[in-house]
Amino acid sequence: MSQELQENMKQGWADTERRDLSPIAQAAHTARRREALSARFPGERLVIPAGRLKTRSNDTDYPFRAAVEYAYLTGDQTENGVLILEPREEGGGHEATLYLLPRSNRENGEFWLSGQGELWVGRRNSLTEAARLYGLPVEDVRQVADLLREARGPVRVVRGHDRTVEAALADKITGERDEELKVFLSEQRLIKDEFEIAELTRACASTVRGFEDVVRVLDRAQATSERYIEGTFFLRARVEGNDVGYGTIAAAGPHATTLHWVRNDGPVRPGELLLLDAGVETTELYTADVTRTLPIGGRFTDLQRRVYDAVYEAQEAGIAAVRPGAKYRDFHEAAQRVLAGKLVEWGLLEGPVDRVTELGLQRRWTLHGTGHMLGMDVHDCAAARREAYVEGTLEPGMCLTVEPGLYFQPDDLTVPEEYRGIGVRIEDDILVTEDGNRNLSAALPRRSEDVEAWMAALRG
Ligand code: GLY
Ligand code: MN
Ligand code: MN
Repeated sequence: MSQELQENMKQGWADTERRDLSPIAQAAHTARRREALSARFPGERLVIPAGRLKTRSNDTDYPFRAAVEYAYLTGDQTENGVLILEPREEGGGHEATLYLLPRSNRENGEFWLSGQGELWVGRRNSLTEAARLYGLPVEDVRQVADLLREARGPVRVVRGHDRTVEAALADKITGERDEELKVFLSEQRLIKDEFEIAELTRACASTVRGFEDVVRVLDRAQATSERYIEGTFFLRARVEGNDVGYGTIAAAGPHATTLHWVRNDGPVRPGELLLLDAGVETTELYTADVTRTLPIGGRFTDLQRRVYDAVYEAQEAGIAAVRPGAKYRDFHEAAQRVLAGKLVEWGLLEGPVDRVTELGLQRRWTLHGTGHMLGMDVHDCAAARREAYVEGTLEPGMCLTVEPGLYFQPDDLTVPEEYRGIGVRIEDDILVTEDGNRNLSAALPRRSEDVEAWMAALRG
């Protein structure tokens, strides 16, 4: 690198240091969330990292997705960021500071010679801009490791996102205490605030449009594979500026019986079912999680319809059990009971139904739990304690999926041959309201006749 070029690159650039940015829409919400966290851990330093890029192969990285705890508490999604809540010496509470990488320095060549230089990765917010955006003081993240190494007093960190931060704290933290922080942050997200509910509503609305797009191209998908369907849904997410919240499951024919079929490389054939489990994730990281099982040719066969209608009935029973004050388990039990009843009715299990559900015998074909919390993670709040989640009580503001299914594996010799290879799941995103629930994905039809009519209308 000639001295001349290095000198040349230092000058001749316009001043782009200052932009007039407005605070992010959720700034008041993130401040409230930090206050609740502060109240739970008085007098302790709390460290919440955004995480670092992960290598995909050689020198390419996966697209970055910020740790949910960090995004939830700041509204920011920048890699290597760190939020620190510092206990105040007087008056209680904490002072929150966000640590980010500042803009690249042009004087020392950083902006074009380093991997994180803005010439390579794009303009960052200046620290002043970030402070205005997020509504809290912002400092240079390069001082965090030293600051944490030198810090005195009790400290907790959200683990698993930033090894540099954890290494700097190595002699001060314990797994047990850090786990308490993680559990609190998971349980804090059980009840969604207004901002979150609006995001989930948007995610579901976009997801509905993605399912409509898929139906419109089902005939064309037959020339390629399930990937045509996956790609069509992803296109809708991207066209609206979003992403998907998890790997789309585009499972045609017997692949529908594989719960997490994400290879999506199989054939799409009329006469078979397509189980499509997909969700748009908004730019603020809230995801939908919706499944429809569709007859690829447009009409269910008699047996497909019988299985489908049973799952629909189970889902109806499940959704009806979602209301404030109900036990979390109620919707699962309601749906499982319907499915057990159908399996007995069809002669696949010996009754009475009470015995079947007591022994869980229906689960050979129902396989998974009937739902889960939904939010920034598709399986949200996963670190919550049992008593707060699976053994807890539903409250307004909780958002969960209700997603019963029946899956007859292609090699299951305990069912008549015609059942084998049929898999059906119906999944909707249900918000617990003050007086019951609201189905955020209700715009997609669920009854078998309605699904057929909707598909016919879309295909013209
Ligand atoms: N899409 C994963 C699930 O339904 O839980
Ligand atoms: Mn789900
Ligand atoms: Mn799903």
